[in-house]
This record gives sequence, C-alpha cells and structure tokens, in this order.
Amino acid sequence: MTDPPTGQLIFIEDDAALRRMLATALERRGWEVVALTRAEEALERLDGTELDADVVLTDLFMPGLGGMELCRRLRELRPEIPVVVLTAFGSLDTAIEAIRAGAWDFVTKPVGVDALSIALDRAREHRSLRREVRQLRKEIQGWAGGDLLTGESEAMRTLRGLVDRVAVSEASVLIRGETGTGKEVVARAIHARSPRAGRPFVALSCAALPEALLESELFGHVRGAFTGANERRPGLFQQATGGTLFLDEIGEMPMALQVKLLRVLQERSVRPVGGDREIPIDVRILSATHRALEEAIEEGRFREDLWFRLNVIQIDLPPLRDRGHDVLALAQRFVQEFAQRPGCVVRGISPEAARRLLAWSWPGNVRELRNCIERAVALTTREEIGVEDLPPRVREMASSSAPATDLAAGGFVALAELERRYVLQVLDAVGGKRGEAARILGLDRKTLYRRLQEWAGPNDPPSGDL
Ligand SMILES: Nc1ncnc2c1ncn2[C@@H]1O[C@H](COP(=O)(O)OP(=O)(O)OP(=O)(O)O)[C@@H](O)[C@H]1O
Ligand SMILES: [Mg+2]
Repeated sequence: MTDPPTGQLIFIEDDAALRRMLATALERRGWEVVALTRAEEALERLDGTELDADVVLTDLFMPGLGGMELCRRLRELRPEIPVVVLTAFGSLDTAIEAIRAGAWDFVTKPVGVDALSIALDRAREHRSLRREVRQLRKEIQGWAGGDLLTGESEAMRTLRGLVDRVAVSEASVLIRGETGTGKEVVARAIHARSPRAGRPFVALSCAALPEALLESELFGHVRGAFTGANERRPGLFQQATGGTLFLDEIGEMPMALQVKLLRVLQERSVRPVGGDREIPIDVRILSATHRALEEAIEEGRFREDLWFRLNVIQIDLPPLRDRGHDVLALAQRFVQEFAQRPGCVVRGISPEAARRLLAWSWPGNVRELRNCIERAVALTTREEIGVEDLPPRVREMASSSAPATDLAAGGFVALAELERRYVLQVLDAVGGKRGEAARILGLDRKTLYRRLQEWAGPNDPPSGDL
C-alpha cells in the first residue's frame, strides 16, 4: 500500500525506541525520513542548502536544544518549513506555547500513527501552498517590470546589474534616455526589485499638466484651497507612501514648482495647497528625462540644486540602435506577446525580415519596434513575419544604416528627395509626434511644419499630430 514518496521529513527524537518505531511507520506511508537525535543537528543541516525538508517533526524535551527553541530558530532560518511538535498528553499549555514559538501543529503522546500522519500531510500541503504563493509573487514581480529588461547586449547586461544594485538603495535616481528607450520600464523594474515593492508605484508626467494643477496633483490640497476644491485631496506624494514616486519628463517642471519640490525633498514633508500643516512623507523618488538637463541648467530653466538632489545616481539608457542583436531578442519577445490571441499562428521572424530590423536605426527605439511587431503580427498570414509585413521605412532598409533610398534597386535620388523621405520616416517612427521628430532631426517645430506643408501640397493636410 506504499504510495509514491510523500515528502521529506526531518524527525528529531532522543528516545531511540520511539524514533525507530515512528520512522519505520512513516516510511511505510511514503515519507522519506531523516531521523536525528538532536535539534542542533537539524539546525546545522537546514542552515544552508545541504538538506531540504517539507516538514520537521520534533519532540519538545530533549537534551541540549529543546523543541520550543528549535521552533523559534527555524522560524527565522527557514520560515517556509512547517514544524509539527510532539507534546505530552494533556499539556495544552505547552502545545499553545509551541504554536506561539512558531510550530504549525502539535500531536500528543502517546502517538497514534494515523493522527500523526494526518497532521504531517496537512503540514506538507501547507508547505506546497506557501511555495506556490512565493512562485506567484515572483511572477507578479516579473510582470511588474522585474523581468522586462530584455536583451543580452553589453549595454543591457550592465544596465540590469546597475538596476539590481540601485534597487536596494534609497538613493534618488535620474533615468536618461531617448524617447521609447524604456525609461519607465526601468523605473518600474527598480521599484519591483526594491524593498518598497509591496507598496505603490505612482507615476506622473510633469509635462502633462499646467503648473497650478501639477502642484495640487503632487502635494494635494485642502478643502476650499481654490475654486472647485470641494474636498480635501491627498497628493501623489501621500498616495505613494512607503513606495516610489516616478516623476517623468522632470525637465518640463516649471521653475516655481522646482523650488517647492526641492523643499519637499529636503524637509521630507509636504504642505498641501491651501493647508498650513506639514505632512511627513516616506517616498523614494525616481525621475526621467529625454534630454540632458545640463543644458537647461545653463540656460536657467532648471535648478542645479534640484538636479543634484534628483541625480544621486544617473542611469543612461542606450538607444536601441546601439544594442546590437537585442533588436531581435526584443522583436521575438513582442511576437510572443502579440501572438497570444487565439488562432494566431505567428511564431517568429524570417531571416530577411530580421536583417531589415537590424539595419533600421529605430529613432523611436523600443516603442517603435513594439508597434512595428504588433502591426506585422496583425498583417501576416504566415508563421513567420516576412519583409512585406514590415512598415515601408523598415522594409526599404538595405543592410547599411543609411536612410532608405533606391540605391538597393540601383536608382539614385536627389538630396532633397532623400531628405523628404528621411523626415517622413522619422515622423512615422515616432508615431507622428512632430515635437519628437523635430528634436531627433535637429529642426525646430515650425521649420518641420513648413516643410511638411510644402511636401504635402495644397490640398493635403500635413501628416502627424500637432
Ligand atoms: N527592455 C524592454 N523589454 C521589453 N519591453 C520594453 C523594454 N524597453 C521598453 N519596452 C517597451 O517599450 C515601450 C516604451 O517604453 P517606456 O514607456 O518605458 O519608454 P520611455 O523611455 O519612458 O519613453 P518616453 O520617452 O516616450 O516616455 C513600452 O511599451 C515598453 O513596455
Ligand atoms: Mg516614459
């Protein structure tokens, strides 16, 4: 009647006869029993990886370290392993004390093998549930950004190492990188791997709101602070208590607010708009910018003292074009992501399409690649994404990194035409955002707009958002 192994049991009992009797009975029920005479030995062997156990079964009164103390130590050392204690019949107080010391269950002597077996089975089940929960937690952390930093290039390996080291510290981090390089992904990864992971991650783009709204959003406001403030509202600093506040596009923060933010960071407390009381805060600050703030500082648009506060550690995200074959690793990852809908047959990318992906310069970085793969997965009818499923700008890429021309087909074009195509490619790559395209091209917005109008002709509205 022996079932397959039930689990591994460490059994500590100084009475040799009882030890042998129970060990044999439990082995017959499928347990793999490691029988020991002293609690110290169990501790030694469980401290490290030498020995694992699903359950520990221990007597309470033994020479040397007692069962009660063993419970306490194991609770510290291996909290995931449930301990079942053997207590004398009728000594309920001792049993309660053992549970307080961390025991999972108790069985009274004289021991009935059936009752013991039931208690051990329940303990083992409890253990496997705990394992499952831990595994799920890990996975959730992965979804929250912990494992999102795809790529094996030198740059990405260095970045992952840095993220791990930075995560455990409380220092403010400034994340810098071109549009779509994954600044927010990195911020979330830092949070997910930090001791603050169980607490909120709150993100705010400083470019998204006008100054007055930004202030009350960050610091909160009291009732009646301004017209329409009918209720007291806690700010994001308070909402992020115990967690992380991510200030995106920090370079866009208005000067007046920079002063207030600096004060908050120095005093570690906020004063809601219209309020007269300081509220202490416990928040870690991460911020991000797509441009070098040094320039803004020189021009007097960004406070140097605030920059020092935010930039205790700086992380520079490399543009995708400098990450070599990561382009393909990311593309594959996105294929898997988008191919999950039922009925989708796409599994990978054809060699020729991969060559084009490697050749393109990705001005919109990872976001552009992600959009490109999403589109390709939707368009293709085959198992492999082919060249024809890629957007024209990428499809036309020869293996050089020059902008698309007809060179591959043997034709040459005028410089003006080359310029037109390149501008349109960049605009397409950043999803039509003209400000972004102008920045990448080194043009001011108005110039870009004018060119687009010229190219579009009289009836055609220029492409891209305003
Ligand atoms: N290493 C990565 N692995 C997987 N996905 C990534 C990675 N980096 C970025 N992404 C994806 O690319 C897109 C852009 O990332 P994110 O929003 O973090 O960029 P950003 O630098 O904050 O961009 P912006 O400057 O426009 O704010 C997101 O969809 C994100 O999930
Ligand atoms: Mg962002």
